[in-house]
Amino acid sequence: MRHLIDILDFSKDELYQLILTAKDMIEAPEKYADAAKGKILATLFFEPSTRTRLSFTSAMMSLGGDVLGISEVQSSSVSKGETLADTIRMVAAYSDIIAMRHPNEGAPIVAEQVSTVPIINAGDGGHFHPTQTLTDLLTINRKKGRFNKLKIGVCGDLKYGRTVHSLIAAMSRYGDNEFILISPEELKLPDYVKAEYLDGKCKYTECTSLEEAMSKLDILYMTRIQAERFDSKDEYERLKDSYVLTLDKLTTAKKELAIMHPLPRVNEIAVEVDDDPRAAYFEQAANGRYIRMALILKLLASKKDEIDAGRTGACSAELECKNPHCITRTERGIKHLFKDGKCIYCDQIASNK
Ligand code: NCD
Repeated sequence: MRHLIDILDFSKDELYQLILTAKDMIEAPEKYADAAKGKILATLFFEPSTRTRLSFTSAMMSLGGDVLGISEVQSSSVSKGETLADTIRMVAAYSDIIAMRHPNEGAPIVAEQVSTVPIINAGDGGHFHPTQTLTDLLTINRKKGRFNKLKIGVCGDLKYGRTVHSLIAAMSRYGDNEFILISPEELKLPDYVKAEYLDGKCKYTECTSLEEAMSKLDILYMTRIQAERFDSKDEYERLKDSYVLTLDKLTTAKKELAIMHPLPRVNEIAVEVDDDPRAAYFEQAANGRYIRMALILKLLASKKDEIDAGRTGACSAELECKNPHCITRTERGIKHLFKDGKCIYCDQIASNK
């Protein structure tokens, strides 16, 4: 059975097919009005969400299907101490497909290990957010008409910004793209992301100044500083307004620049930018509904015996995962698995015990 845990679970060809389907859905939504009739999507959100949860709900309703779910931990038995694995076993019995968001990294991998229905990762801690990347890819396709030869500036919280990690994983697979990673020193892209997707695979530079990078960019992907992932409130307060995009700063930008943002924004894009023709972020959010419709149909059609991504690893007497946000820290009864020296749940390089 197929799941979407990591954007690389889908080939470039599969991603392109999803984009074509989503574009057809935008053109002729009535063709798909009964496509998921009789099916149930469960939305399990253990972290706040507006766009992702509601666009999944809207997507399933637009396909003629039904939706049930929870939008906070307090309203589920997780608050009584139930494990994620047990929760998923139950929800899989009540639904045909599950979209889940969880504060711990690797949580959807625990879910796929026990689920009898497809699992969609709607964000796991500061790790990945593949369905935001689907939305981003549809937006890039509609704005630029290509996935290669693009200079992409990603700006803001590159350490905890899961949308950035999945976007880099996806776009580094296409030829001749270049990333300009713009962040404060404290919020640089993690080494595990660089090692996996950029080093020796895709051109990139790192800098701290948005102004310096501006004139080169085809895409500017702004992100929010992720308050909820900071250990220290003071550090968040110090870094929160590191970048504020204003019309003034756009004077050196290309005319065809696409300004993207997964939203929600806090201060990082001034409201005055919204009316600039280069602002693409509200259109990007709207695209989320259609690409999620395409995703739901694809996964519902996947067969129980279809090969999944094969996320396997081995137990180790020497290694341990030291990432405090990894699901192995909180979930009881799961195997701690490692592959190529990395934790298979959160991808972070493991330490010796
Ligand atoms: C993002 C997320 O949850 O990671 N939002 C979203 O899904 N559109 C970005 C964010 O919260 O900053």
